[in-house]
Amino acid sequence: MIKRIVVVTGANSGIGLALCERLLMENDQIQLCLACRNMQKAEAARTALLSSHPAADISILQVDVARLKSVCQAAKELKQRYQRVDYLYLNAGIMPNPRINIKVFLSGLFSRKAIHMFTTGEGLLIQKDRVTDDGLQEVFETNVFGHFILIRAIESLLCHVDNPSQLIWTSSSNARKSAFSLLDYQHSQGQESYSSSKYATDLLSVALNRHFNQQGLYSSVVCPGLVMTNLTYGILPSFFWMFIMPIMWLIRIFTNTFTITPYSGAEALVWLFRQKPESLDPLVKYHSCTSGLGNNYVEHEKMDLEEESSEIFYQKLLDLEEQSLKKLSTAAKTIHSSVS
Ligand SMILES: NC(=O)c1ccc[n+]([C@@H]2O[C@H](COP(=O)([O-])OP(=O)(O)OC[C@H]3O[C@@H](n4cnc5c(N)ncnc54)[C@H](OP(=O)(O)O)[C@@H]3O)[C@@H](O)[C@H]2O)c1
Repeated sequence: MIKRIVVVTGANSGIGLALCERLLMENDQIQLCLACRNMQKAEAARTALLSSHPAADISILQVDVARLKSVCQAAKELKQRYQRVDYLYLNAGIMPNPRINIKVFLSGLFSRKAIHMFTTGEGLLIQKDRVTDDGLQEVFETNVFGHFILIRAIESLLCHVDNPSQLIWTSSSNARKSAFSLLDYQHSQGQESYSSSKYATDLLSVALNRHFNQQGLYSSVVCPGLVMTNLTYGILPSFFWMFIMPIMWLIRIFTNTFTITPYSGAEALVWLFRQKPESLDPLVKYHSCTSGLGNNYVEHEKMDLEEESSEIFYQKLLDLEEQSLKKLSTAAKTIHSSVS
């Protein structure tokens, strides 16, 4: 039997690790590749997965999606290892230096929008971004552009008309149109780089479907709900989360988006693994949900975006790709000539 090949970025913790565990429970005949930036953490994740699935085929691949050189090397390595990739989970993500916007928090807390504010984080979270060695905004490069370059670099492994492959992005309900601008798509001017990057992810997924469906490649976006992971523990100190945890379990009775555990947050990611990609709607976001009684299920929601904007954004990414790769190769030539 031919084994299906699954690559997961950010597989060493949180939702990515839970996803890997659940995929192996779903089908232990897959070839699973953990694409992580830290090899020690990747090895620990592999050991943990092998302890519950000793016969599983699990390999690791080094990739830092915020470094184009690393992404290009990882793509080269994937092309050497595999003839095709059936599923590429674009899951690695960051929300650096998050802070709560106290003014929005206090005014929202006692308003009718309180639950909406908690479930979407709308206006609540602000971040301080930085510029990477590639000269790009870090949140944009990690959450969007590094993954885009990876897809483009392994197109030949992903595009098969007779047997389609899937791209599955971990987006967020925090993806907000109002936080994103085509004029500043890296979000260098604002304080909501995370929100902007997740909206960019949604736009990109729509454009990828337009450009690649006919070549047998399909893209979907998922919102995992609010999940307790390293990312959320970075927003508030852990003692605060422990303090408000009873309130969160209470709110869970009124909302289905508090999935809380990485296992439940991975629900929609696993659900997509079982679907025929041709049957999916490119304009829908798939939400992991958990009922008050703790049952997991998937909800479909039409995304609030214009296809025209997704195309403009896609063209901007192609331009940026060309410039960035040119810069990278010039830098490599300069180093090479100064050494020889
Ligand atoms: N938790 C939530 O409530 C929530 C809600 C909506 C969406 N999400 C999304 O879910 C995804 C997974 O996040 P999580 O909540 O599971 O948090 P997490 O436990 O912090 O996982 C993030 C993963 O991304 C990896 N990563 C970060 N920067 C990277 C880089 N430059 N190159 C390669 N890997 C990198 C991390 O690796 P290291 O261990 O090396 O840092 C880690 O494996 C993210 O895209 C996040 O935006 C989470």
